[in-house]
Amino acid sequence: MHKVLWLTALVFLGGGIAQVAGAQGQVADSPDVSEMAQIRAELDERIAEIKGNEEEHQRLMEEGRNRTVLCRTCHGLDGEAVKPGTPNLAGQNPSYIVDQFHRFADGRRYDFLMSNLAKTFDHEETVNIALYYSDLDGVSSGGGNPALMDQGQALYEERCASCHGDDGRGQEGYARLAGQQYDYLVKMLHEFKDRTGRRFNPWMSGVALKLNEEQIQAVSTYVSNLK
Ligand code: HEC
Ligand code: HEC
Repeated sequence: MHKVLWLTALVFLGGGIAQVAGAQGQVADSPDVSEMAQIRAELDERIAEIKGNEEEHQRLMEEGRNRTVLCRTCHGLDGEAVKPGTPNLAGQNPSYIVDQFHRFADGRRYDFLMSNLAKTFDHEETVNIALYYSDLDGVSSGGGNPALMDQGQALYEERCASCHGDDGRGQEGYARLAGQQYDYLVKMLHEFKDRTGRRFNPWMSGVALKLNEEQIQAVSTYVSNLK
């Protein structure tokens, strides 16, 4: 495959083949759905195993916390983001955090800083960081346009809850959305919808393509105000 330069995502639906061109030009095959489910199941199992041993759990969380000194400048002291366009990590699902770190590291997701940073962590360190952040209490950032709240709730219940959970806290490794930063939610829905190549997921692109601008704002308002 020749090098595709900037921001191109090729999706061959129907054939079930999905490829995404990372913003640096490398092309990464996105693993198929069953492979993703398997990776997630393995991570969930590993995390449950660690949590079954309280001493080990505490030790690894402490190691994770020690690696978050740099992270705090953007993701906040307690996992509530302090920089625009940055997600909260507090209360996020651990296997989702690990999965996203791997995506940054191998080019399936792209953000200049996060991609370079993720490459400097090995799998175990990532698991420790995920254990640490997932244990912090989730925060409710609020924001958005209150006039769109009811529309957002209806959209969420109809189109999002089946994967992200009735309470927005994610289930089986899906991303927690509850209380997430409004501007970050809007930004991500656009990444999926516009297929910028910075981030790709066949399900989410399918969902986001059907949202117009007002609906993106409405559902982001509802979600960022969930507790
Ligand atoms: C300079 C600011 C900055 C620093 C430092 C930083 N991040 Fe990030 N992080 C971001 C931004 C911005 C994003 C959103 C990227 C995007 O647009 O895709 C992000 C995304 C993430 C995500 C994906 C979360 C999600 O909801 O999908 C994880 C996980 C993450 N960062 C963990 C970390 C960890 C762990 C550290 C420290 C080792 C760290 N970050 C350091 C700015 C930062
Ligand atoms: C079929 C399952 C499914 C449905 C339905 C779904 N999502 Fe998702 N969503 C996912 C998956 C899987 C991811 C993780 C994508 C990845 O790996 O990059 C995700 C990620 C996201 C993210 C990024 C979270 C973060 O922390 O970066 C947002 C925002 C999001 N979804 C919003 C929504 C909204 C809003 C709806 C409804 C309009 C919705 N999703 C419906 C499966 C779903």
